[in-house]
Amino acid sequence: MAKAIVKGVLNQDLYDASDIRCVSGSGTTSRALAQQTGITPSENRLDLIEQSRTIIVAFKPQHLESISESESKAATDKLIISVLAGRKLESLKTIFPTARNIVRVMPNTPSQIGKGVSTYCFDQPPTDKDLNEVVSILSALGSSYAVNESQMHIVTAVSGCGPAVFFRFVDLIAQAASKRGLDYALATQLAIETGLGSLELMRQSDKRPRDLVDEVVSPNGVTHALLTSLDRDECPEIIERSIQAAVDRSEELS
Ligand SMILES: NC(=O)c1ccc[n+]([C@@H]2O[C@H](COP(=O)([O-])OP(=O)(O)OC[C@H]3O[C@@H](n4cnc5c(N)ncnc54)[C@H](OP(=O)(O)O)[C@@H]3O)[C@@H](O)[C@H]2O)c1
Repeated sequence: MAKAIVKGVLNQDLYDASDIRCVSGSGTTSRALAQQTGITPSENRLDLIEQSRTIIVAFKPQHLESISESESKAATDKLIISVLAGRKLESLKTIFPTARNIVRVMPNTPSQIGKGVSTYCFDQPPTDKDLNEVVSILSALGSSYAVNESQMHIVTAVSGCGPAVFFRFVDLIAQAASKRGLDYALATQLAIETGLGSLELMRQSDKRPRDLVDEVVSPNGVTHALLTSLDRDECPEIIERSIQAAVDRSEELS
């Protein structure tokens, strides 16, 4: 995720490579990232925090507790951007009590190619400057939307888990097609391109998704048969239950 952010902001010329520092636990990934992008590897986390105005925290959620007291003090009056899944503002505030502000972000994996969607919530109402900085950094990953922290579990289910749902969906369609005589690779390609085209059509349309469904279906036609079978097999209830399972797990983890 850190690599996606750094590459994205450099590609969009939002910052100079000389403006950005990075550090990691072992030093392996931060050295590699510095080599690939020309940003500066810091000696250690304290050095990075002292030298920076804005700090992006992108290690695993369990590493948050490894922040030392001196690192926490060095973050005084700085803006902290956390992409850690499931770590609430409350727990981030315990670690960085004197930060200028803290923003919690939920990105998703298409961020790697600049096509992600992120949701974010600030701890304190942000200044225009901090809001602009966060939105411009997130624009390097794709689009971004402000949400309330109480909505983080449901957006995690929708956009955080969403890529896996679409990948699984394409795989299941391609598997079913290959059992019926179509090459799996071709079926995957057809499903991907159908997904891309349909989603783009939906994005450009001012109609609701269900109205677009109606436009594709003719009574007793092939699509009608497919959708009727989905409904008979409780597809809506399955989606409802799986979204709830994701929300429940997100709540448990945080
Ligand atoms: N991937 C996603 O789609 C996604 C989506 C939403 C949120 N997130 C969140 O993004 C965060 C990073 O996920 P990821 O998938 O990018 O993980 P990752 O590829 O495993 O990267 C973790 C990074 O943390 C570094 N690190 C390990 N220990 C550290 C320490 N003590 N101090 C500083 N850095 C340390 C690692 O570097 P070394 O190995 O060199 O130590 C590595 O560069 C997670 O908190 C995750 O919840 C990820």
